Amino acid sequence: MKTVHWLFLISVVMFISGIGFVVASARTTRHAVPADVPATTPVASVKQIMKGIVGPASTVVYNAVGSTVTAAGIDERAPKTDQEWEAVGTSAAALIEGGNLLLMGNRALDHGDWVKLTNDMINGGKEALKAVEARNADGVMASGEPINTSCDACHEKYRR
Ligand code: HEC
Repeated sequence: MKTVHWLFLISVVMFISGIGFVVASARTTRHAVPADVPATTPVASVKQIMKGIVGPASTVVYNAVGSTVTAAGIDERAPKTDQEWEAVGTSAAALIEGGNLLLMGNRALDHGDWVKLTNDMINGGKEALKAVEARNADGVMASGEPINTSCDACHEKYRR
């Protein structure tokens, strides 16, 4: 009889500590994933994102650095003031976020090239942003190539 009592006691203790583990891990999960992440609903069409965000943002990045040949000679152009650099950085960031929007909801037309080409555009934008942070005009200039290649490749495949 005494052994039976002990076994009963041990199984009760194990049962309670088992519940303790479940509660503890549920708490950790709740902390890791906040329950109150705001819900978002994609609204804009791909065309609107192109014309409203991606197009204007990439134009600012392309035009930030370059040279124009005039009658008076070659006119070199690059951001100079903090304000001018900040404007280029803002557009690079908008281009990156425009890429994120292209992957949201059901905008991605497939999980292959659409995602790859969008990421190429995002990475070009990140290259521009890093160059802006380093005040590196040549770097901004160089970021134009991967950005432009991503636009052309995606349009060739998906634009109707
Ligand atoms: C992941 C694919 C993808 C990438 C990357 C992409 N585009 Fe597009 N773009 C599209 C598609 C698809 C359309 C056609 C949208 C429609 O007409 O419904 C389009 C249309 C456009 C349009 C035309 C809107 C109109 O007038 O009809 C512009 C401008 C444009 N893109 C600019 C750009 C620029 C600039 C880049 C690069 C910085 C870029 N896009 C990168 C997919 C892409």
